Amino acid sequence: MKWDALYNRAYTPYSKQPRACIVLGKSGLYYAGVRVENVSFPITVPATQAAVCHCLSEGDTPVKLIAKDRNLEQLDFWLKEFDIELIVTDDISVITCSSKVLEISEKETLPMLKQLLASAVTPNSDFPVSALLFADNKAITGVNIEVSDWTKGLCGERVAICKALAMGINSFTKMAVHTLKGEVSSPCGACRQVLVQHLPQQPIDMYHADGTLSRHQVPDLLPFSFSSSSLDAK
Ligand code: THU
Repeated sequence: MKWDALYNRAYTPYSKQPRACIVLGKSGLYYAGVRVENVSFPITVPATQAAVCHCLSEGDTPVKLIAKDRNLEQLDFWLKEFDIELIVTDDISVITCSSKVLEISEKETLPMLKQLLASAVTPNSDFPVSALLFADNKAITGVNIEVSDWTKGLCGERVAICKALAMGINSFTKMAVHTLKGEVSSPCGACRQVLVQHLPQQPIDMYHADGTLSRHQVPDLLPFSFSSSSLDAK
């Protein structure tokens, strides 16, 4: 891996200030995270949060955080939260980042979503959510991650999107989401805001707890949505 290549995967159309980092898990695997901006700026996911959530979503424990420099949002929070060692280096040529994608059919989607629920990290809510983000027949997994600071966790849908972008996958065909404890498996407002940005015309399949499935179009989830030509990605 090269920093330039990873920084290029950051979604930073507004600031033009890409950020990226890599987390080494206890397993020996490396997990990338890139900055994922949103038209509503405060919904932006920092590279540090994305990389740590990537690692945790795979059932791994973050041990080291590898960065090009210290110019990363929330850096001190994440280092302290998991007692992570910071390594600042220009040379990451020996590192290969995890790029776990699944090949699953429509029929296999619900069983996979059910299986994934076990990977959710929910010490605060005990409310596991699983997501599968599709790029044709390839799927990137996501589960919700909670940490000591409630405001720094991430929903399953956004974990999947952040992981995909960090892997260099940025064109999506569908999202599927599941939870067993909600009356419906319907994404929250913040996730809708992010979904609209990355799946603007795509469907979302909601696999509800009662066994029913409803398919919606992502733009229908966020009518009259926030936008301004003065913020348009240039
Ligand atoms: N959650 C999701 O993962 N996706 C959503 O769309 C709604 C909420 C998670 C966040 C938190 O971990 C838990 O559910 C309770 O809010």
